[in-house]
Amino acid sequence: EVSLAKAMLVSLCINIIMSVVGLGAVVRTIPAVADMFINAGLFGRDLCKKERDKKIPESMGMVSGSVFLIIMFLFLAVPFGHHFMNMQTPFPHAAFAEYLTSLLCICCMLFLGFADDVLNLKWRYKLVLPTLASLPLLMVYYVNMGSTTIVVPKPLRVWLGLTLNIGPLYYIYMAMLAVFCTNAINIYAGINGLECGQAIVIATSVAMFNIVELCGYQSKSHYFSLCLIIPFITSSVGLFFHNRYPAKAFVGDTYTYFAGMTFAVVAIIGRFSKTVLLFFLPQIFNFLYSVPQLFRLVPCPRHRLPRYNHSMDKLEPSIAEFKASAVRSPVLVVLRMLAKLRLVQFEEGLGEDGNMCSLNNLTLINLILLLLGPQHEGKLTRNLLILQGISSLMAFFIRYPLADLFF
Ligand code: UD1
Ligand code: MG
Repeated sequence: EVSLAKAMLVSLCINIIMSVVGLGAVVRTIPAVADMFINAGLFGRDLCKKERDKKIPESMGMVSGSVFLIIMFLFLAVPFGHHFMNMQTPFPHAAFAEYLTSLLCICCMLFLGFADDVLNLKWRYKLVLPTLASLPLLMVYYVNMGSTTIVVPKPLRVWLGLTLNIGPLYYIYMAMLAVFCTNAINIYAGINGLECGQAIVIATSVAMFNIVELCGYQSKSHYFSLCLIIPFITSSVGLFFHNRYPAKAFVGDTYTYFAGMTFAVVAIIGRFSKTVLLFFLPQIFNFLYSVPQLFRLVPCPRHRLPRYNHSMDKLEPSIAEFKASAVRSPVLVVLRMLAKLRLVQFEEGLGEDGNMCSLNNLTLINLILLLLGPQHEGKLTRNLLILQGISSLMAFFIRYPLADLFF
């Protein structure tokens, strides 16, 4: 027991050292490859700035992702290496398979994200591909006798019993987790530093949760999760260094997919696939608020990021304009109600013949701007990241004192 704990501690220390080296590598590599990316056509314009002509290298998540994978491939020798030398103890094939498939899933997603940046994939592929990419991990989960039982909350136990085996539903849930995590981060984006900033806050919260649970009865799973999440944090911090306001690099869908899949993977192998969603509260809200646009109940423009106000040098909510006849009447009724509650900015009777309407793009970023007034881009990112941190604190509150009441 004691020697096992000691071995875990030593390999975590090695993991941290390798991750810090990785951070340096990301920080130095991004400027070095920036021109290469621009020459390959991988660049974007910063839409919230005065001068929009500057080409900013896109898909820099590729650097973070590659450094992350290199660290993980090298680190593999640390927890498993001594089994090669010492043949007395049986080799932990099950854990090894979980570890390798985790990296396979993340690698796949990095590849798909890059493909999306280069080819601009359609929406339906963005939903199908993460599901397929998570299949190998689900298969290993199945073979390793992964549990599919959930603990029933106290009020429902009279009917359902203490635990409930939901079988295949659990696998469907885990596959959907991968789709949700990747897309939820990708659509909560558009201002400098937000994409990797939010991922860093979520990842730090996950790491803290793992550390707390390291003394629990599933310490091994949480230890593996930590080994993945620490290099993820440092390689993201390296990227944030260049992506924060004013951005010198964009993360691209390469990064948002890589980050989302990493969260899904650690949640699955760490056996905390329900708790992880608690760390996504702002993303869940942003997704729900976006539903009318995502499902095209109201028109959805290509970009929904806030609008830059030249004279104030601040960002304000961006607006979508459309014909009232393009929207069904029940939707109009709901929009009017939401406007009364000041949750959306909805105006009717615009245009020459008065049949145009305008609606703010339905993102959490725009809602905050609507409620608090225009903000400077750098400050807005900082506020949204603080919000992310506060929701993590709330998540811990829900997970510990509150959950104890119900479970
Ligand atoms: C998602 C959002 C879209 C948002 C976009 C911005 C949905 C359904 N899609 O699309 O509304 O506008 O992300 O990330 O919600 N950019 C900036 N500043 C930044 C980051 C990005 O100007 O700080 C712009 C750049 O022009 C960059 C482009 O956004 O090239 C990247 O957009 P991309 O990631 O391809 O958009 P989507 O993920 O498809
Ligand atoms: Mg994107």
